[in-house]
Formats: sequence, structure tokens, C-alpha cells
Amino acid sequence: MSRSPIEAPQHVLALLNKLHKLSIEQEDRIKGDKARFVSTDASLDDLMRDKFIALDEDKCHFVYQLIRAMGATSVIEAGTSFGVSTIYLALAVRENKKSRDGAKVKPGVIATENEPSKAARARQHWAQCGSEVEAEIDLREGNLLETLATDVEQGVDLLLLDIWTPLALPTVKVIQSKLRPGAVILTDHTLTAAAGYKELLDYFEAPDSGFHSLTLPYSGGFEMTVYNPRK
Ligand SMILES: C[S@@+](CC[C@H](N)C(=O)[O-])C[C@H]1O[C@@H](n2cnc3c(N)ncnc32)[C@H](O)[C@@H]1O
Repeated sequence: MSRSPIEAPQHVLALLNKLHKLSIEQEDRIKGDKARFVSTDASLDDLMRDKFIALDEDKCHFVYQLIRAMGATSVIEAGTSFGVSTIYLALAVRENKKSRDGAKVKPGVIATENEPSKAARARQHWAQCGSEVEAEIDLREGNLLETLATDVEQGVDLLLLDIWTPLALPTVKVIQSKLRPGAVILTDHTLTAAAGYKELLDYFEAPDSGFHSLTLPYSGGFEMTVYNPRK
């Protein structure tokens, strides 16, 4: 990758670089099983229990840049795994808060993971980044449809959907009432997993849904959906 918009200490950039490499190596080894990503059965959870499946680096850079452009200070991540993309979310929110008087003292990123071993690895990675990253993340362990159902404040700026496809629409429905006008939902692999995302994309495209969607030409499709409900 030639240029990077990420503002972070060198040790954090080096860690991100290492984690992306490890994730890609793992993904190359399990490519044949990718079709199972649309499933929610126990075998998928077994297969993925020790896998990063981190969001691609170029997509992470885009998410970071978008959060900075939006001035977002309230971000939700559906699907955290070992916490790679979460580091970018925390770095971007932290930068936004620096330029804001009276920015909220609460963590700006809600992360979600239902595998305890993955949540533990994510916490280790964030600790390696340092307290500024750690302090920005509220990790909710358990089924995100339950952990996001309470204690989410109004005014969510951005929702990153990096989760098994059957959970995408239920997650949007849990969070929708908390989204601010102009909020953005980013969804990974909407082209390669189009069948799995059909219900979600139909929901976005329904007349008067308030959602306006565009597929960005990143690998596998990266959906950028803006929420502007009619008053
Ligand atoms: C694609 S990975 C997330 C990758 C992460 N965003 C990154 O870039 O490093 C999806 C994660 O969602 C988690 N997951 C699956 N079902 C879940 C649920 N019901 N609640 C919370 N997390 C869940 C899986 O364990 C998996 O680690």
C-alpha cells in the first residue's frame, strides 16, 4: 500500500501491519471454506474460532478516513474478532475528539464479539496499542443482538457490519433508532455474499426506508449506506 491516512504511533502501525499479514495468511489457508460464511451454524463458529478474518487493510483505511471526515465520535462495530478493524475505529474517533471541546468522556467505539477467546485476543492487541486506544473501546461480549439492545446512546454516527450475513439486518434493526440523520452503515462483501445480504439490501432499497446505498468497488464489494429518514 502506497499512502496511509492513519495517524498513530509507529508501534501501532507496525502491529496493524503484522496483524493484517497474519490474517491474510490464514484466509489463504481456508479459502475453500468461504462459502460457509453465509451460515450461522456451529461448524462455522468452530472453523472461525481461531481466525482473524480481519477487514482488508484498504477498507480499514477508508473507514478511518470516513470517520475523520464525518467527525464521528460514536461508532459501533458488529463483529470484532481479534480487534484489528477496531483499532482503526478507535484511532479515528480519538483524533476527532482531540479537536472537539467537551467531547464525550465515554468510549467512542462499541465493539461486539461472542467468542470469549477472540475477545481476549482483541483486548491483548488493544493493550499493545496503549491506553489511548484501549480507553476508546467498550467491548461487549456475547450475542450482539442482545448486547446492543441496551446502553446505546442516541446519535450513532457509523455502524460497521463485519458479521455473518444472517445477522446483518437484525443488527441494523436493533441500532436503527439510535442512528443520527446522515449516519453511515458500512457492510463488507456485499457483492461476493450478495445472496446472504439480499434481505438487508432489499430493506435498504425499500421506498421511504430512509437508506441510500452505494456499492464501493473494494474487493468483494463494500456497501456504503447513508441514513436520512424523512421528517
Ligand atoms: C468477520 S469477523 C470480524 C472481523 C473484525 N471486524 C476485524 O476486522 O478484525 C466477524 C466476527 O463476528 C463474530 N460473531 C459472530 N456472531 C456473533 C454474534 N451473534 N454476536 C457477536 N459477535 C459475533 C465472530 O465470532 C467473528 O469473530
